[in-house]
Amino acid sequence: MRIFKDPETMQCWALEQRVAGQIIGLVPTMGYLHDGHLSLIKTATRECDIAVVSIFVNPTQFGPNEDFGRYPRDSDGDLTMCEEHGVDVVFMPDADAMYAQDASVYVMENRLARNLCGASRQNHFSGVCTVVAKLFNIVQPHEAFFGQKDYQQAAIIRRMVCDLNFAIDIRVLPIVRGRDGLALSSRNIYLSPDEHQRALALNRSLQQAYELFFAGENRASVLKQSIRELLEAEGLKIDYVEIVNGETLVAVSDVEMGNVILAAVYCGKTRLIDNCIV
Ligand code: PAJ
Repeated sequence: MRIFKDPETMQCWALEQRVAGQIIGLVPTMGYLHDGHLSLIKTATRECDIAVVSIFVNPTQFGPNEDFGRYPRDSDGDLTMCEEHGVDVVFMPDADAMYAQDASVYVMENRLARNLCGASRQNHFSGVCTVVAKLFNIVQPHEAFFGQKDYQQAAIIRRMVCDLNFAIDIRVLPIVRGRDGLALSSRNIYLSPDEHQRALALNRSLQQAYELFFAGENRASVLKQSIRELLEAEGLKIDYVEIVNGETLVAVSDVEMGNVILAAVYCGKTRLIDNCIV
């Protein structure tokens, strides 16, 4: 397995591989890999000639009061996992190699990024778009793999690829959950055992709304209220509960197949998100 730290070296190597006709797949991550990341990695290694995993805790997507400093990191563990799963290349740049001191160009999406997570995390998606655009240019992938866990992120990346003419196929893979139903996330490590238990209400509440819909209830207000009640009963602080059109991310009042139910909560100090496609 090759490890590149320098963006220029990574890019030169990737360009050579493209010329040689190799199909490159990229899995962008912030590391502290878990089975959610691994599902993307396994698909990339299976379907592409060269699977590249990027590991970079991207400072520009964290707000000033967010957890950039304490975001969990384990490069050795991540590298072992990548090696074990047949990854061809790990790209793990340092922050100063990725961002010039005087960098002044950012990528901003101005519609899908406004609501949901974008409402409480200002500039978050601009940081995500900027780093992903950079990774696309550096790694030169034909395909890039994202998780449905971050539904809004995936929708925004699709938009960016369309609007900025990246010749990259964006693949979005299903949410991987623990046995107890909690969506896997690097941030789950912050949860105490009691918080972890209470956090299960997140998936449970979405699941309950999903079942209510299939039992005939299509009023978004009623479904959202049922979710809120379950979350509040477990003492979770709600950031948002929303049901939206899967492409435009605009809130709907009458729920239809293909709509997406999303929620973000604080469990103690930890922010958790989850979603479910109807
Ligand atoms: P990170 O949170 O490390 O996630 C990397 C990728 O793994 C994302 O596409 C995310 O949706 C996916 N993922 C995380 N948990 C998952 C789960 N339980 N099931 C399926 N997929 C899951 O998302 C980011 O990093 C960053 O914003 C990044 C795109 C790398 C840009 O910095």
